[in-house]
Amino acid sequence: MKILKNLFESNRKWAEKIKRADPDFFNKLSQQQRPEYLWIGCSDSRVPANEIVDMLPGEIFVHRNIANVVIHTDLNCLSVIQYAVDVLKVKHIIVCGHYGCGGVQAAMENKAHGLIDNWLQNIKDVYRHHQQKIDAVQSETERFNLLCELNVIEQVANVCHTTIVQNAWRSGQKLAVHGWIYSIHDGILKDLNVCSTGIDDISSIHRIT
Ligand code: CO
Repeated sequence: MKILKNLFESNRKWAEKIKRADPDFFNKLSQQQRPEYLWIGCSDSRVPANEIVDMLPGEIFVHRNIANVVIHTDLNCLSVIQYAVDVLKVKHIIVCGHYGCGGVQAAMENKAHGLIDNWLQNIKDVYRHHQQKIDAVQSETERFNLLCELNVIEQVANVCHTTIVQNAWRSGQKLAVHGWIYSIHDGILKDLNVCSTGIDDISSIHRIT
């Protein structure tokens, strides 16, 4: 007896539905993937990359972790970025956060959450970098929303600072890095207007020549 039988049943129905719309769909996809986008998002079950932008399998390369954090020693995230940029030649990297992010909320607290506290330190760093601006906001919800946004902006910068992205830009590869935020209340994406498209968009200390 199969465990989680309902999921296997759903899977068969889903595959049939796709094949009805395009009988050659899986055959084409099995040959190769050519996504134009790399999505770096939160693991939160309410923020599924493909669904939000209504894209089919094959259209978006995805990396997700708690609170969409990009750290320079995270071999997992860096490997995803390198493969997406160097091999798949994606044209866009989208860092997408979301309001109401549990990871960001936990980082704003002082209580212990276990191992994850080490991960959340990265978001506490974002808070510390922008503490004056955040603490000046009266409403607790708005402070939380602001840190969710600032975290995305910081992670966009981290993506741009990688040698992977800098090398791609230097070699003339067309690559834009975007910062977006998603509202789980209405399903709407907002562009945070921090799009970076070249070395000139990053601070001089991070430029590697
Ligand atoms: Co989240």
